[in-house]
Amino acid sequence: MTGLPDLPDGEVHLWLAPLAVEPDELARFEELLSHDEGARAGRLLDRENRNRLIAGRGLLRTILGRYLEKPPAEIRFAYGEQGKPSLAGEGHHGLAFNLSHGGELLLLAVARHREVGVDLEQMRDDLPFREMAARYFASPERAELFALPPQTQLRAFYRCWTRKEAYLKGCGSGFSRPSDSFAVSLLPGHPPALIEHRDSPEEPDRWSIADVPVPPGCCAALAVTGGQPSLRNLSWTNPAKHPLIFG
Ligand SMILES: CC(C)(COP(=O)(O)OP(=O)(O)OC[C@H]1O[C@@H](n2cnc3c(N)ncnc32)[C@H](O)[C@@H]1OP(=O)(O)O)[C@@H](O)C(=O)NCCC(=O)NCCS
Repeated sequence: MTGLPDLPDGEVHLWLAPLAVEPDELARFEELLSHDEGARAGRLLDRENRNRLIAGRGLLRTILGRYLEKPPAEIRFAYGEQGKPSLAGEGHHGLAFNLSHGGELLLLAVARHREVGVDLEQMRDDLPFREMAARYFASPERAELFALPPQTQLRAFYRCWTRKEAYLKGCGSGFSRPSDSFAVSLLPGHPPALIEHRDSPEEPDRWSIADVPVPPGCCAALAVTGGQPSLRNLSWTNPAKHPLIFG
C-alpha cells in the first residue's frame, strides 16, 4: 500500500475506478458491506447492476478507509432526507464525499469541510437530449443550448446536465429541488459556474463548479461549496497487485 494522500481544505480529490472487477475482488468487496448494503444489493435482480453496486460500495469503503485510517467494514454511513450518504458519527475531521456511476466507471470526490457533489455520465449519441433539455433545463440554459451549432449541442447538453446534477447532488436535494429553478453555464469556453438561482440568490456565491477530466465518451462535473478548489486526480488501478495507487 502506498501512503495516505494529504487532503488540505483547499483541495478536492477525484477518484476514478473501474466498476467491473474480477470475481475474487468482488467477493472481497462484498465482505466489507453493511447488512443494509448487502440487502440492497440482494434486491437487485440484474446481476450486472448488483455487482456494480457491490463494487462501488466496496471501493467507496476501501478508499475512505485510507483517509480515515479505519478498516473499511467499520465505516458507518448516515443518509440525508433524499438519500445523500455521508459519514456517520464523529472523528472524521470534516471528511465529505460524493460518488457517481457512469457505465463501468465510478467517480468519487473527497473533500474536507465542504459539501461536495459529482456526476459522471457516459455520453450517448442517440440521447433525446432536446426533449430532456426542454423538460429539465432553466430557460437561459435552453436558450444558450438551442442557439449553438447543432453539432456542438450534444456535448453542451452533457456539460450542462452534469454540472446541474453535481450541484443537486452537492445539495443532497435530488428530485426535490426543481432542476429549472437554477442555471449553470454551458457554452464552450465559458468557465463552469452556477449562474443564478431563482429561490436562493445567494447560492451562486456559495458554490464552485468544475469540469472533471474523464476518459473519452464520458462527461463529468463537480460542485463544491467555497472557492474554486485545486483538483487532484487519482486513479485506482490494478487493485490485485497494488491495493491503492495515488497519482
Ligand atoms: C441519486 C440521485 C441524486 C442521482 O442519481 P443517478 O444520477 O442515477 O446516480 P449517480 O450514479 O450519479 O449517483 C448515485 C450515488 O449518489 C449518491 N446519492 C444518493 N442519493 C443522493 C442525494 N440525494 N444527493 C447526493 N448524492 C446522492 C449515492 O452514493 C449513490 O450511489 P450508491 O447508492 O451506489 O452509493 C437521483 O436520485 C436524483 O435525484 N437526481 C437528480 C435528478 C435531476 O433532477 N436531474 C436533472 C438534472 S438537469
